[in-house]
Amino acid sequence: MQPFAETQLTEAVLARLAGCKDERMKQVMASLIGHLHQFVRDVKLTEKEWSQGIEYLTATGKMCDEKRQEYVLLSDVLGVSMLVDTIHHANPGGATESTVLGPFFVHGAPEVPHGGDISAGLAGEPTWISGRVLDTQGAPIADASLDVWLVRPDAKYDVQDPGAGMQLRGRLRTDAQGRYAVRALKPVSYPVPTGGPVGRVLDHMGRHPMRPAHVHFIVTAPGYEQLVTHLFARGDAYLDSDVVFGVKDSLVVAFEPMSDAQAEAVGMPKGSLHVDFDFHLAAVDPTRKGRAALPAVEASADPS
Ligand code: BEZ
Ligand code: FE
Repeated sequence: MQPFAETQLTEAVLARLAGCKDERMKQVMASLIGHLHQFVRDVKLTEKEWSQGIEYLTATGKMCDEKRQEYVLLSDVLGVSMLVDTIHHANPGGATESTVLGPFFVHGAPEVPHGGDISAGLAGEPTWISGRVLDTQGAPIADASLDVWLVRPDAKYDVQDPGAGMQLRGRLRTDAQGRYAVRALKPVSYPVPTGGPVGRVLDHMGRHPMRPAHVHFIVTAPGYEQLVTHLFARGDAYLDSDVVFGVKDSLVVAFEPMSDAQAEAVGMPKGSLHVDFDFHLAAVDPTRKGRAALPAVEASADPS
């Protein structure tokens, strides 16, 4: 048999998909094989580079366990996570825009009463975060659930500090008017974990590892699409260069000083900040596939 020429090889591999009975699998694999072969041809991948690539993927796999997912982080910094999000969450009719989940979500955060404090006694800039959960017509959604979590003022999440316990995270519910409120701290910008292969590749590409300051939310209510999003701090130095490409203009909000009267009215110290933001949820569309189930991990972070 004659050896395959470059393009014949691609065709030969694609032809072996003939027996694939799952049409979606066939479509995905054909596209993947075609693009992968074209990539190898485009850059004329050397044997050494091929071998380095295999070693890199192996090292990335070795950094994955139930607490850390280096492949998700790789997907994040290569913009793949946001591309998938953008394709499947095209802001239906006035709903709040979504962004990446990130690796620091923890199932089972403590329930927090309306206006409760999640700052866990940490020093920082006290911030009152409040608003409403509404549908896309502006009607309030009562008893919606909001998971909220944010980074500590030392630029680490609680789960990156073994033994810290739950800090700056909690689960709220809206009242009959759809209102929520929580007492937290102003988030800071922070680097994604750089102690593994993702940190190395960022360095090689001449990229910084920083995310602009943000507060994470997952907003859930029966009959509505689940919303996974952040609120980003206006004025942050990294808004235009978020390492995971997660910033959307509609999610950038002001952390504004509260007047003394405002602060007193809700029991915040003088000089506190506040953020006011209404989330709009889209009604479930039975023709659309919803977001994939959230990762079933207790805490998916790593100190490095
Ligand atoms: C985060 O915001 O927590 C995050 C998102 C993607 C990668 C790393 C961290
Ligand atoms: Fe984050």
